[in-house]
Amino acid sequence: MEYTRLGQSGLQVSRIALGCMSFGDSDRGNHAWSLGETESEPLFRQAVELGITFWDTANVYSAGSSEEIVGRAIKTYTRREDVVLATKVHGRMHDGPGGAGLSRKAILEQIDASLSRLGTDYVDLYQIHRFDPDVPVEETMEALHDVVKAGKARYIGASSMWAWQFATMQHAADLGGWTRFVSMQDQYSLMQREEEREMFGLLAAQGVGAIPWSPLARGRLARPWGTETKRTGSDAFGQTLFSDRDKPIADAVEQVAGARGVPMAQVALAWVLRHPVVSAPIVGPTKEHHLADAVAALDVHLTDDEVATLEGAYTPREPTGF
Ligand SMILES: NC(=O)c1ccc[n+]([C@@H]2O[C@H](COP(=O)([O-])OP(=O)(O)OC[C@H]3O[C@@H](n4cnc5c(N)ncnc54)[C@H](OP(=O)(O)O)[C@@H]3O)[C@@H](O)[C@H]2O)c1
Repeated sequence: MEYTRLGQSGLQVSRIALGCMSFGDSDRGNHAWSLGETESEPLFRQAVELGITFWDTANVYSAGSSEEIVGRAIKTYTRREDVVLATKVHGRMHDGPGGAGLSRKAILEQIDASLSRLGTDYVDLYQIHRFDPDVPVEETMEALHDVVKAGKARYIGASSMWAWQFATMQHAADLGGWTRFVSMQDQYSLMQREEEREMFGLLAAQGVGAIPWSPLARGRLARPWGTETKRTGSDAFGQTLFSDRDKPIADAVEQVAGARGVPMAQVALAWVLRHPVVSAPIVGPTKEHHLADAVAALDVHLTDDEVATLEGAYTPREPTGF
């Protein structure tokens, strides 16, 4: 495993992050494809063995069940101090004013609920899952700062929003003397590159680390186009992100991987890892070889010709997923 700083912060993270949306009671929430606790166990054990110390979950994943499973896995397979634990706030957990969004009321309620489910006193990275247009940015940034000062989070991060929204929030933090975001969790893969236009330049200028979600386009970059799995049939959100026009991109990954004799996932992740603002892609494993492939991608150094082949089929598109 390689380790790096999360952006310009002092936080050391593994260059592959464990996506814990894969884990959760499939009867709770809307991830019918997620692995239950028993099925998840080998993947947590493997993550620890491979040195994958950066684990990402969210309050909404399987309606809190992901956080519960992750909290127990930390106790079973590793030590709290050896994990960089990240969770998120914004999505709806219950009816009423504290159940969703980024108001002071919601943030202060939801951090306590997450800590309770995770069985810990603090998370290392507390992320806002989306922008909330119904709350003044000053209210959100001060509440997040108070979470940090209360010792409940070590750092804060953001996820999927327009660059101007992120810049506005960072500016509010500066004016208020509050904690700034150190990370941006956004969608970035060979099938979704729109963050390169505005967001990545902003992140570079501000020393913020990108931690891309769905770096394998939810599996579409990791197997020949059209291959059906349990997840493809039940991942409703994923189905909104991609379409048949993406087939040539998957074909290009298949071609480069075939010529190298490595799995497609390694090539697709190696491409994400090349971008200098990317601290760590967040990979969602559902099978035992997935994490080993992700780690092996660190040793795949793509040539300029391979990169040209991989990027050749991309066409500008709407940013999706937020
Ligand atoms: N902030 C946000 O809004 C947001 C949104 C989405 C995700 N996330 C975070 O990002 C993490 C990753 O998201 P994701 O699961 O969508 O990402 P992903 O890594 O792009 O997709 C994971 C899927 O790819 C397939 N896969 C993974 N490794 C593979 C390998 N080596 N070989 C073949 N197939 C492989 C599996 O598909 P099959 O199961 O079909 O085999 C798996 O379900 C989540 O767990 C979560 O922590 C955040």
